[in-house]
Amino acid sequence: MYKFKDYYRNEVTLSFKDHPFSDAPKHVWVICKHKGKWLLTKHKERGLEFPGGKVEESENAKQAAIREVMEETGGAVETIQYVGQYYVSGRKDYIIKNVYFAEVKALIPQDTYYETEGPVLLEKIPENVKRNKQYSFMMKDEVLKHCMNYIKDRKNRQ
Ligand code: GTP
Repeated sequence: MYKFKDYYRNEVTLSFKDHPFSDAPKHVWVICKHKGKWLLTKHKERGLEFPGGKVEESENAKQAAIREVMEETGGAVETIQYVGQYYVSGRKDYIIKNVYFAEVKALIPQDTYYETEGPVLLEKIPENVKRNKQYSFMMKDEVLKHCMNYIKDRKNRQ
């Protein structure tokens, strides 16, 4: 379990256990790879981030993750694995988000990418992402670093 402050100084608790905070979280975030590159989306207000969003009434969290990847990047998910879950304690409310790792087999051009400008492929996530104005606040706390390390370690164990 990790505890740290996010970009807005809200407290975040991150765990790699199986759904430690909620069995039915309302938010998802998906670390995506396509052809050996990281697949992000460019949110019109927040900037570059991995795709994600809210779970709808009619779906579970994993289904929401697959849908959000398609909506925000056009990415057709081939494999998807649960990574962990985090809890953000805001001033008024809290949110709980599942993190997934997905391999995307194809990028299918979409008529709309909703509140984003669509897919962005990156060889590497820059070291200075915390100070880089192009990146969303979601990429600026330790969720990213811990999840990337977890995914790398899990891959090495396989
Ligand atoms: P809308 O209903 O779409 O307007 O949602 P909202 O703007 O209230 O945002 P949402 O419910 O997605 O999130 C509420 C707050 O939680 C945001 O303003 C953020 O401060 C925080 N939040 C959401 N997602 C994340 C995240 O991935 N990381 C961190 N650190 N905070 C988040």
